[in-house]
Amino acid sequence: MGIILDKISYKYDIEDKELSSFGIFDISLQVESGKAIGIIGHTGSGKSTLMQHLNALLLPQKGQIKIDDYIINNKSKNLKDIRKKVGMVFQYPEDQLFEETVFKDIAFGPKNIGLKEQEIEAAVKRAMADLELDYEEYKDRSPYELSGGQKRKVAIATVIAMDPDVLVLDEPTAGLDPKSKKDLLALLFKIKETRKLTVFFVSHNMDDIYLFSEYIYVMSQGKIVMEGSGLEVFSKTTELRELGLGVPFSVEVLEDLKKQGLYRGEIKAIDLKELAEVIFNLLGDKND
Ligand SMILES: Nc1ncnc2c1ncn2[C@@H]1O[C@H](COP(=O)(O)OP(=O)(O)OP(=O)(O)O)[C@@H](O)[C@H]1O
Ligand SMILES: [Mg+2]
Repeated sequence: MGIILDKISYKYDIEDKELSSFGIFDISLQVESGKAIGIIGHTGSGKSTLMQHLNALLLPQKGQIKIDDYIINNKSKNLKDIRKKVGMVFQYPEDQLFEETVFKDIAFGPKNIGLKEQEIEAAVKRAMADLELDYEEYKDRSPYELSGGQKRKVAIATVIAMDPDVLVLDEPTAGLDPKSKKDLLALLFKIKETRKLTVFFVSHNMDDIYLFSEYIYVMSQGKIVMEGSGLEVFSKTTELRELGLGVPFSVEVLEDLKKQGLYRGEIKAIDLKELAEVIFNLLGDKND
């Protein structure tokens, strides 16, 4: 079981012969259930277009997508099941909140798929608990009067409440302050683990991608041009920069230390604790 994309292509303007009008071109990939997948690429490289295929918001004009037993192709019709299975958190998802209260907004999806009243309440409570939104404190409040970070959490809860198997997060922390970003990322990671979700995570922040993802796909001009573990992808610093992408903070620091002749080891993505150890050891060498 898992997700298989078999040579899918989508062109926004079919009449246009130019490559620039391509959303995505000839993309194949295979993802096992329960994995955290990072998607990176320059602006306009096709990340959001690709993600919108995962819940059939866009249908592939060529190729097909298989998610467990569901097949999505250009003839797919019954899309309700796939939309329930794959939850999408778009960029700035709070723009889509529209009900008078937090409860009503989160209950909207579960109600729509015909859950009973008690089940709806249970789904809302569980989703709010997952996002660390206190039920009694927030359920009757208007989403509009919440802070940016809280609104974002409510918006994500509306998707989680549908109990999806796959969660697509298209830049879920964009526009939040650094602390809210860090908190939300930690919550999303916890939700992935406890709900055993397959997660696709799109971000321009290479540190977040490195921390969150078990496997990474790099896109450019509508194609996948590189893939691998965080360690593999972020060791290809020259190629990444040629694609207009950055590298995690730890890589930049190691490169800088190497340039100054202070570090002779391998340039690779490491977490902050390991980076601190490298620096600590270098200080030790200096004081010898
Ligand atoms: N609704 C649309 N109509 C026409 N072309 C579009 C549309 N949406 C995207 N495109 C084009 O498809 C290509 C891929 O866009 P997409 O939004 O998937 O990129 P992205 O990687 O998500 O970019 P970003 O990092 O800016 O979010 C771009 O060339 C873009 O201009
Ligand atoms: Mg996008």
